[in-house]
Amino acid sequence: MTTLTDQWLHPRAPRDQFPPYELGDPDVVGRAEARTSTLARIYHKSQEQAWDGRAVLDELEAKHGGIRFPEDKKAAFARVAAVLLWGELAAWSISADLALKLEDTPAKMAASSQVFDEARHFYVLRDYLWRAGIPVERLGGFSRNLLVDLLETDNLLHKVVGMQLMVENTAVILFKMIAEARLEPVLTELLYYFERDEARHVGLGVLVLPDILAGLSPREARALWWFQTRIQLAMLAGGMTMREPFAALGVDQREMQRYGFRLHADALRRMRAQHGEGTGADDARVKGLFAVSKQGQERLGQFLFPAADAPAWHKATIRTMVAAAARADGWLARRGDGRRADAAPGVPHM
Ligand SMILES: [Fe+2]
Ligand SMILES: [Fe+2]
Repeated sequence: MTTLTDQWLHPRAPRDQFPPYELGDPDVVGRAEARTSTLARIYHKSQEQAWDGRAVLDELEAKHGGIRFPEDKKAAFARVAAVLLWGELAAWSISADLALKLEDTPAKMAASSQVFDEARHFYVLRDYLWRAGIPVERLGGFSRNLLVDLLETDNLLHKVVGMQLMVENTAVILFKMIAEARLEPVLTELLYYFERDEARHVGLGVLVLPDILAGLSPREARALWWFQTRIQLAMLAGGMTMREPFAALGVDQREMQRYGFRLHADALRRMRAQHGEGTGADDARVKGLFAVSKQGQERLGQFLFPAADAPAWHKATIRTMVAAAARADGWLARRGDGRRADAAPGVPHM
């Protein structure tokens, strides 16, 4: 019999496990229920909080007398929106993949409800951009690589850690900080709905992961740590390429980074606390997960975002890194475009 952790690391094909008759056995289900009812609640909550994207967008537009996005910020927002929009599409496919492959019913339910949320996020954001007259842009190379990695991995643990803990976390922060920048009233109110859904998606990771992580061997934990490090580096590099657009929108990237660390630490704390603190097995519940100390976070922030009075060599180093990240981002994007063109001959470039 395979353990839950094994099922996540090496998902079984339907021919080897379908139908799982134990799901119809009230005794088996009853025993598992207590452990997982909170997780199933994500599904029910998602039903209760579901919103009609078309109606919400129409109502907000009517309330504010249309969408008038400031012309001088459209280009900057288009860059940020590309990450958000294509990120939503990836989240949609990834959650559908999880809904398909997870065998644990409550987790499968939570992932299924996320599919509906992400589909809504994608079409509403795209509709908003069209209505606001903001071009739908292509994705930078670092962001594309990161999302392709998450789409392609067969390892469900890597998929969930990457998506629910890292990408969803970033989504919560982006939606919140862009809303706080008050760029355009319809967008500001709309993003509140997105943020609430994304917070629930982080919750799926927080609830489901501790049991899986506790079963990891040291080697598997190291593989997970390395996987997250690669994602983190891609996010850092991708963030470097977005300095100008965020500055133009009045969104403080240093603050964004601080907030990101805070949310991640909060997720880890919730995971440790799940079965009561002080059980002695706390650390097993976050085994292999990335964590940076408070001092480490501060040092990284000070390095990446030099203060106005920082030495000239420091500022020059960062300028060089930003320029290198932009070049690498463009190169990776062009390489990705080449692959897309090869894979789908006859499909016109959009
Ligand atoms: Fe989303
Ligand atoms: Fe999400």
